[in-house]
Amino acid sequence: MSITDQLVSLRDEGLAAIAGASDLATLDVVRVTYLGKKGSLTGILRGLGGLAAEERPAAGKVSNDVRVALEAALEERRALLAASALEARIGAEAIDVTLPGRSRPVGSRHLIEQIRAEVVDIFLGLGYRIAEGPEVELDYYNFTALNTPPDHPARSLQDTFYVRDLSGETAAVDSESDVLLRTHTSPVQVRVMEHQKPPIYVLAPGKVYRRDIADPSHLPQFTQIEGLVVDEGITFGDLKGTLDHVCKAIFGPDRRTRFRPHFFPFTEPSAEVDVSCGICGGEGCRFCKGTGWLEILGCGMVDPNVFGYAGIDSEKYSGFAFGMGVERIAALKYNIPDLRMLLEGDMRFLRQF
Ligand code: PHE
Repeated sequence: MSITDQLVSLRDEGLAAIAGASDLATLDVVRVTYLGKKGSLTGILRGLGGLAAEERPAAGKVSNDVRVALEAALEERRALLAASALEARIGAEAIDVTLPGRSRPVGSRHLIEQIRAEVVDIFLGLGYRIAEGPEVELDYYNFTALNTPPDHPARSLQDTFYVRDLSGETAAVDSESDVLLRTHTSPVQVRVMEHQKPPIYVLAPGKVYRRDIADPSHLPQFTQIEGLVVDEGITFGDLKGTLDHVCKAIFGPDRRTRFRPHFFPFTEPSAEVDVSCGICGGEGCRFCKGTGWLEILGCGMVDPNVFGYAGIDSEKYSGFAFGMGVERIAALKYNIPDLRMLLEGDMRFLRQF
């Protein structure tokens, strides 16, 4: 094959390779193969020296034409591939500026936790300490030591979740077990008095359980805050002053309180405390069922029998105790019509307040 023929077939081969290169990297390999220092064209040009002098100018011209043709094709292909590579990148990185931004909502403590913390803060300010007791409690602390005898209706299977050891043969199906889920936070009173000498000023927040069907005003699990004071010379006046202060701190300074006689086995005398209705200001409305008052807690002077169980001298010391329902305070403070809403995981309860 003459040099000219070689050059022509090299050109055709090269043009085909350039057209077939599908990306810039492949195209560069093609360039080096045909036009590089060790490339095919250079190889053929080296052979020009061996030609007769009269053949050289023509062969030189053809080789130059081949180079120009290949270079032009390479440049054209390079521009094309670069443009489509850019287009592909832009496509992949596309930002849709019309998309709404992603929000990163900030959570907050649940309302129950907030109120619990708020009430705890009020009492810490009065010098109380926080006490705790188990949620799975002994009958002794939940009932007996709180002056609640075995035949008291509060001990009924209908009100209390009893805990049975199902593995043991002694498990009694129908009778009450000694272990139960505490029905109130009052057992913490007894536990504190067993271990601490007066003066005692404690607050015991915690979960309690009752065999109630959940409805707008009842939950089978709820939160109470128990208070206990034991000191020399404590009177019902101290109880009234403390709770009136606390109610105003929780609900606002313009709210009034009233104490209604009541009965609890572990306090004597006992009272239920109402706070004036925040909707009607005490006039009477649907929220307070026309009475102008909303019940929020139970309280009383510690019964001497309870001091007896706990080993505290009731001749020397007196005291008061109270228990309030946190869910109920939440409902009254924020006009929540159904206590069950507090447990439904509704995101609105986790956002503000
Ligand atoms: N333990 C009572 C209840 O759950 C409330 C209470 C506590 C009453 C302390 C008096 C004293 O209803």
